[in-house]
Amino acid sequence: MERLPGFRDFYPEPLPHPDVWSADARQFIFDKWRTTAKRYGFREYDGPPLEPLELFTTKSGAEIVGQLYNFTDKGGREISLRPEMTPTLARMVAAHERNYKKPIKWFAIPQLFRYERQQKGRLREHFQFNADLIGETDPAADAELIALVIDTLRAFGLTAEDFVIRLSSRNAWQDFFKHGGGDAAREYEFFQCIDKLERAAPDESEKKLSSLGFSLAQVNEFIAAGKPTAELENILQNLAARGLKDFIKIDYQVIRGLAYYTGVVFEAFDRKGEFRAIAGGGRYNNLVKLISGGKVDLPALGFGMGDVVLLELLKARGLLPKFDSQMDVFVVIEDEALRAISLKLIYDLRAAGFAVEYSLTPAKADKQLKRAQELKVAHTIRAESDAYVRIRKMSSRDEVVAGFADAANHLG
Ligand code: HAM
Repeated sequence: MERLPGFRDFYPEPLPHPDVWSADARQFIFDKWRTTAKRYGFREYDGPPLEPLELFTTKSGAEIVGQLYNFTDKGGREISLRPEMTPTLARMVAAHERNYKKPIKWFAIPQLFRYERQQKGRLREHFQFNADLIGETDPAADAELIALVIDTLRAFGLTAEDFVIRLSSRNAWQDFFKHGGGDAAREYEFFQCIDKLERAAPDESEKKLSSLGFSLAQVNEFIAAGKPTAELENILQNLAARGLKDFIKIDYQVIRGLAYYTGVVFEAFDRKGEFRAIAGGGRYNNLVKLISGGKVDLPALGFGMGDVVLLELLKARGLLPKFDSQMDVFVVIEDEALRAISLKLIYDLRAAGFAVEYSLTPAKADKQLKRAQELKVAHTIRAESDAYVRIRKMSSRDEVVAGFADAANHLG
């Protein structure tokens, strides 16, 4: 049986095959995401992987809706696997926002599902670090969130030479569109055209833009000028004060595909332009109101960072550590008469927090030692009698004999 296209198997390292993914690397990434988010004061939340289809159909925009994994369940409900976390977050916040001090700062690491054409950096499932800040309109919040994106990537050893945050604003484009005489009802169409500029053929963009009353040259000129709005200037200064100036550039080519963004938007890319976006996000000041049917009105912003592109980039830059079994101790049972007392020792060491391995069935001592070496344990312990153990430090081969109860004190 083959796995579904675009889905992944995660194996412990060393990996048996280049076509599988590392469960260790995945955990490494999750750990860094969690620690950085917590340092910035974000609290973890989660929601259901299945949601009513309706949650996504009107809120997210055509691109993502075309990629939904949706079906009718046995109860006749129209449902979908979540393609993104933001509508779920908006629903959760709207339901219980009164219980939380503002601004709400939450993060999650959901697995998301999109039925899209499989390509480099794009699969049909991925894990996405989401951090969102709800209840604050000040650009200080935008800067804080962008700083979190930067620090998260730096936590993996990536530098300003490896990645850049392309900062933009839909407000800037909105002004451009309005002053150029654009029809307000077709604004989103215009945004979608800007979003596709980098990928679409120029004559295709030209055609679309002229149907909206603009020319490609006009649009390109606006992008090339890259003049920050007052709001973006504020964010740039805030980030410069933290010493993060080199990580960021104004780039109006970024506008983001999702329908709900209302202001500042940004994306993180590798500097060499080898990979797809590492992360993307922005302000969505109307989504909570839309999803709560007008009951709750809270400004919001956030970003999502996927594990797929990040992993490709870390691999390419040699920034993934080697992962081993992380066992501390191997207990060698040479004399089966001492198995019972050895099991007690193993139990106590594990209770004290050590990762302990041993042979489940009788085995020759040299075979057990070989296994201990493979596992790269720091120590082996062997019961010498029902009173004493012999502890060997693997790095120096130094040995010491101690009482059972005292064994843990020699594992430093
Ligand atoms: P998004 O740009 O659709 O935004 O996704 C964010 C990131 O998730 C992308 O930059 C990419 O790294 C990763 N990603 C997306 N789709 C795939 C895929 N098919 N395979 C692998 N990786 C993928 C959102 O989802 C917004 N909801 C983010 C957000 C949160 N905005 C505000 N709060």
